[in-house]
Amino acid sequence: MDKIQQLMARGTDLLGSDYAILCGAMSWVSERNLVSAISNAGGFGVIACGAMNPQQLDAEIAATKALATRNFGVNLITMHPQLFELIDVCAKHGVGHVVLAGGLPPKGSLEAIKASGAKVICFAPTLAMGKKLVRSGVDALVIEGMEAGGHIGPVSTSVLAQEILPTLAEEVPIFVAGGIGRGEAIAAYLEMGASGVQLGTRFVCATESIAHPNFKKAFMRASAREAVASVQIDPRLPVIPVRALKNAGTEAFTVKQREVANMLDSGQVDMAAAQLEIEHYWAGALRRAVIDGDVENGSLMAGQSVGMVSEEESVAAIIASLVQQAAAALHARG
Ligand SMILES: Cc1cc2nc3c(=O)[nH]c(=O)nc-3n(C[C@H](O)[C@H](O)[C@H](O)COP(=O)(O)O)c2cc1C
Repeated sequence: MDKIQQLMARGTDLLGSDYAILCGAMSWVSERNLVSAISNAGGFGVIACGAMNPQQLDAEIAATKALATRNFGVNLITMHPQLFELIDVCAKHGVGHVVLAGGLPPKGSLEAIKASGAKVICFAPTLAMGKKLVRSGVDALVIEGMEAGGHIGPVSTSVLAQEILPTLAEEVPIFVAGGIGRGEAIAAYLEMGASGVQLGTRFVCATESIAHPNFKKAFMRASAREAVASVQIDPRLPVIPVRALKNAGTEAFTVKQREVANMLDSGQVDMAAAQLEIEHYWAGALRRAVIDGDVENGSLMAGQSVGMVSEEESVAAIIASLVQQAAAALHARG
């Protein structure tokens, strides 16, 4: 156990957790119950705020604080129209860690978060962007490969880790995400210089997760190859790919893209509005599956590690087995 704690030290120092294992924010799933359970079990929970307005975030942070005995963070999406109001809500509550997802942080956002005393964690999609973020003063980076669930980039976790860790791991703590289902993989990334990891898919079926039983059942049945990336159908309408389990909703997304492309053609919307329309579609489709349990027509966002999810277990049991597998792998290597 010592070796894993040593390799995670910079991550745990930054997060104030026992293990540098973040549960990545998942819209609708990462709310008060899962977030507090992750942090209370020694990991680090992050509230997903992508689909919330400032009042909703205010209430969610207050409710999470009431349940959590340890630190937790808040994930804000850079293109949220009320980003600065959301930052103010985090500051009001003294949230210690803000994770900025969804593209380069807009001007003034890093400064606003840091002024509140919070640490800023950003996603680095490339080495060049990672260097730029480090120069702008971010406290830590997440590198997330295309194996992950939800919105994804084009590069695999293993390649991003090789490109980014050797250059930037000395500068700031880096958390590796995407496709991690077992502790052996955690051990490998720690040995490559990561200070910790971020998992999403593996925690969806936690007992404490409020995801609908149908959503959890779909995860427990699925294999890695069923978690597929969405396809862009119109070259004029760039959409960020989303990895999800294949269902009728996958086809519905094709129809939605055609509809939005037509709105773009007819001048009803501009490109920014068209892309926002697509993001609203995903938020609604995910809610339908996670909250309402419509696993046919809703979106079953899931990473390829879904094949390693086979039962409902408590957060504490999941973290314990990840840590035990990682520790055993490190021990076996001497
Ligand atoms: C159902 C689901 C919803 C997600 N929603 C978000 C989100 O709202 N914001 C975000 O930054 N990442 C989101 N993610 C990505 C996770 O935070 C995390 O980085 C990812 O799941 C890690 O890869 P893994 O799924 O292979 O463990 C989501 C992932 C899943 C599976």
